[in-house]
Amino acid sequence: MTEVVTTEVIDGIALITINNPPVNALSQAVRQGIQDAVIASEADDAVQAIVILGQGRAFIAGADIKEFGKPLMEPNLPDLCTRIEASPKPLVASMHGVSLGGGLEIALGCHYRVATPDARVGLPEVHLGLIPGAGGTQRLSRLVGSEVAIEAISSGRHIKASEALSLGIIDDIAQGDPRENGLAFARKLLSDGKSRRAVSELPAPKAIDWDASYNALLKKGRGQLSPAYAVRGVQAASERPFAEGIKEERRLFTELMQTDQRQGMIHTFFSERAVSNLPELKGVSPRALDSIGVIGGGTMGAGIATAALLAGLPVTLLEMSPEAAEAAKGRIEGNLQGALKRGKISQDQFTTLTETALTPATDYSALAQVDLVIEAVFEDMRVKKEVFGKLDAICKPGAILASNTSYLDVNEIAAATSRPQDVIGLHFFSPAHVMKLLEIVVPDQTAPDVVATGFALGKALKKISVRSGVCDGFIGNRILSTYRAAADHMVLDGASPFDIDTAVTGFGFPMGPFAVSDLAGLDIGWAVRKRKRAEGLPKGARDTEYADKLCEAGHFGQKTGTGYYIYEKGKRGGTPNPAVTELIAAERQEKGLTPRSFDAAEIMRRYMAAMVNEAAKIVGEGIARRPLDVDMVLLFGYGFPRYRGGPLKWADLQGLPKILQDLEDLAQENPHFWEPAPLLKQLVAEGRSFDDLNKEA
Ligand code: 3HC
Ligand code: NAI
Repeated sequence: MTEVVTTEVIDGIALITINNPPVNALSQAVRQGIQDAVIASEADDAVQAIVILGQGRAFIAGADIKEFGKPLMEPNLPDLCTRIEASPKPLVASMHGVSLGGGLEIALGCHYRVATPDARVGLPEVHLGLIPGAGGTQRLSRLVGSEVAIEAISSGRHIKASEALSLGIIDDIAQGDPRENGLAFARKLLSDGKSRRAVSELPAPKAIDWDASYNALLKKGRGQLSPAYAVRGVQAASERPFAEGIKEERRLFTELMQTDQRQGMIHTFFSERAVSNLPELKGVSPRALDSIGVIGGGTMGAGIATAALLAGLPVTLLEMSPEAAEAAKGRIEGNLQGALKRGKISQDQFTTLTETALTPATDYSALAQVDLVIEAVFEDMRVKKEVFGKLDAICKPGAILASNTSYLDVNEIAAATSRPQDVIGLHFFSPAHVMKLLEIVVPDQTAPDVVATGFALGKALKKISVRSGVCDGFIGNRILSTYRAAADHMVLDGASPFDIDTAVTGFGFPMGPFAVSDLAGLDIGWAVRKRKRAEGLPKGARDTEYADKLCEAGHFGQKTGTGYYIYEKGKRGGTPNPAVTELIAAERQEKGLTPRSFDAAEIMRRYMAAMVNEAAKIVGEGIARRPLDVDMVLLFGYGFPRYRGGPLKWADLQGLPKILQDLEDLAQENPHFWEPAPLLKQLVAEGRSFDDLNKEA
């Protein structure tokens, strides 16, 4: 077995190298290795200075996240950082790639820090539901002051070497490899006669209004604790002697380690990486993907084209008429203007993307040579079939034919071609160049390399891609329909849409379901309701009509200025629309329903029970391969709070027996709507969790 930490001595300088691929996480063996190597170097009279560096792509990416939640193993990281800092010999961290979390804390325990120009440093523990727990809040704040430290720790952002230098986090930037940089820096230290220097001995950071900062971060995080706790860590640095501050930081860290939020966020960390890691795609190579076509340049088509252009893919955009093609180009230019304003692209790139990389067209022959076509025309099966028939006739063999449909049966669309093996659903979310989620919808006959290409496209567009089987609404919209129905039922029974939105945002969603409908356009839901009524409503469905009446009166949400809410130009958010309350009251009266009150707890109990139950059905039916796939869909497409890990992780944390009991109680009033998912019953009977299924997959 290769040693995870090695030492060599060159010219009186001990080079301690960490070699724990892929990112040199600080596992117990690495911590022990560093400690032993430092102690041995101190004892070696031939050694005058010590350099710590990382082999491979990073200095150190932090504590080993896989060890979290398991019993602690010595040496612990805070003690190791303190031990390093106490070394009588000057100690240098030579950094490259990332130095994150415990990695930066090790570097801050060193006496000097040198980094390569492309290095990035940061304390991203908040994204795992934690704060730095090995002196990060105490040492960083002594280097950069309270405010900068709080900003850096509560955002968890990666700081580029140049900024780190100007903030005083590192001492120098050096070209070259970390080994040579470390040696050169240490040689200079020795020739200049410099000795050890400890960050912990710097003056404590100044006091600020701690409570105001804490409360502001708690509000900004919609209930997420860790960014706010960072304030308390820095406060301890300011108010207490260093050793006491370290203890307080550890106490806060340990407290967070025990929270559901920490579990939810670590579940998210691993799940967002696992979604594209499908066993069925092992060893399957994607097809070539050098150019794409988009059909329909409305809201979605323009967004998809923008995302592809920004990823460096040339796009041919087909519309119905030259005027429509010009309008689509205008939408794409509008989107790219945003990227230009934010400094993501230069003026030259903007011109190249809009004038060279984008080709508007009205004739299908323009799509003959593209590798992949994404259709984003009206949500109408007849139109979609016609489009796919034409694509089948014109596209080169092996070209992938994709639909962005939200709800329609992709098997039926595939059947409109002579090559169903090349057809797939690529379901983007609006705005497509912003939203992270991509559902990759796999019909029955799709070839594995077409699925692999869908994932390759998702990666190129920097999306979180999740595989879904074919069903009405796929993973996300099917679950949305169910929890939205639960919300509509509550409205009929006495809750107001505004109370429901408030309860849902209180849970941590950025918006409630009614505000979301206003944003998407109420006409979308209206069309779905009409289609479903025509198909025949499922048993247990309770039809609601007040939303139709709202649409009939021309209230389509934000785009018309009124919907559930009234929107004033220039103001964020809206105020409740009294017309909605009247329509609801009229419908209750017509249906003979006596309204009762719902508090936030009951609203969320029903809302979440509906969401979890539908999610469990989706996993049970194999529409989602694993519970974590559903979790990531809700997180990246529907605003589910990241710190809760997704509906099925949330359900695990509540305890599945409790969720099942809730459903059984609710089923007394509407047995069909609340019928518990067979998978949920099975897991409860077997004493297992959704996470057990993730581990088995
Ligand atoms: N512990 C364990 N595994 C880790 C890890 C860590 N800290 N960081 C990354 N990995 C694993 C990933 O799970 C992934 O594994 P896989 O190949 O089996 O899926 C592999 O390393 C490569 O990671 P990515 O796919 O994410 O590679 P990228 O190049 O895209 O990103 C990275 C690299 C920027 C280091 C990113 O992985 C990252 O942000 N990691 C987390 C960093 C972090 O949060 N550090 C703080 C840890 S908490 C801490 O230090 C507590 C301390 O204060 C006490
Ligand atoms: P839209 O109405 O904004 O745009 C549709 C565009 O397609 C129009 O510009 C129209 O001119 C063009 N078009 C229609 N028929 C055409 C044809 N035969 N050939 C070429 N162009 C044609 O619609 P939107 O919102 O962009 O939706 C498109 C598709 O994306 C639908 O299937 C929809 O369900 C789906 N979708 C919509 C989302 C949304 O939030 N709007 C989210 C995810 C998917």
